[in-house]
Amino acid sequence: MSMIEFSKSMQVDQQIIVEFSDVGYLIGGNQILADLNLRILKGEILVLLGESGCGKTTTLKLINRLIEPTSGTVLVEGRSTIDWDAIELRRRIGYVLQEAGLFPHFSAAENVALVLGLENWDEGRKRERTTKMLELVGLSIPKFAERFPHELSGGQQQRVGVARALAADPGILLLDEPFGALDAITRTNLQKEFAKLVRDLGKTAVFVTHDLHEAMLLGSRIALMDKGRIILLETPENFVKSELPLARLYLETISVS
Ligand SMILES: Nc1ncnc2c1ncn2[C@@H]1O[C@H](COP(=O)(O)OP(=O)(O)OP(=O)(O)O)[C@@H](O)[C@H]1O
Ligand SMILES: [Mg+2]
Repeated sequence: MSMIEFSKSMQVDQQIIVEFSDVGYLIGGNQILADLNLRILKGEILVLLGESGCGKTTTLKLINRLIEPTSGTVLVEGRSTIDWDAIELRRRIGYVLQEAGLFPHFSAAENVALVLGLENWDEGRKRERTTKMLELVGLSIPKFAERFPHELSGGQQQRVGVARALAADPGILLLDEPFGALDAITRTNLQKEFAKLVRDLGKTAVFVTHDLHEAMLLGSRIALMDKGRIILLETPENFVKSELPLARLYLETISVS
């Protein structure tokens, strides 16, 4: 199956899960984001693509209310993030931080189990779920479960981060360059696993990358960002036809000729 057929085959229905309406974010006199308008539908993998500093991480943080918009509104499941109880909101959203963001004094298994503790799971279920999640991301239990983050490679830490985000089975996933530190082969495997998982479990994901190949493989739509704005929002199929200069520059990165 080609990349495009693969992404087109994803099930997307029309329920809006996340909606940005005229969102701006200003800090210290700097306009970090401006005029963001975006509807993310149930079952989508919406990719935020753009260069370093264009505002991708800031956009993700607005969704789980790590920050609040200085203008406009961000709606999650129809309710403005500022009207959500922040804890309640974050329980519905799995978040993979850009640098894995593991707790250094907890083992890999403890990092994953942590979110289940918040949900009052009993020990047996917690252990079972933790095992399943670590194995899902390719980390065998005997070898990795008891290791601390500093005993793991960057890519292994990222995988623990993905396992942790999936553990409590949230409907929404925010992933900030989750596969950045992985080698090409492991990354391709995880990308495929991840796309299947999102599709099979009916999750909605916002996925940050600066890699167009990854964006094309995973995205049902790609939002190209530049200097705090979305300058193009297209399916992978239409992205390749774009005449926008920045889109063309990205396309050159994957052209083999
Ligand atoms: N708390 C802050 N105070 C001031 N400026 C900030 C703050 N947080 C982010 N910025 C600035 O906002 C811009 C967007 O940052 P953001 O982290 O969203 O970029 P990004 O697209 O995720 O980049 P990268 O690909 O490097 O992770 C950057 O110029 C950054 O320096
Ligand atoms: Mg970032």
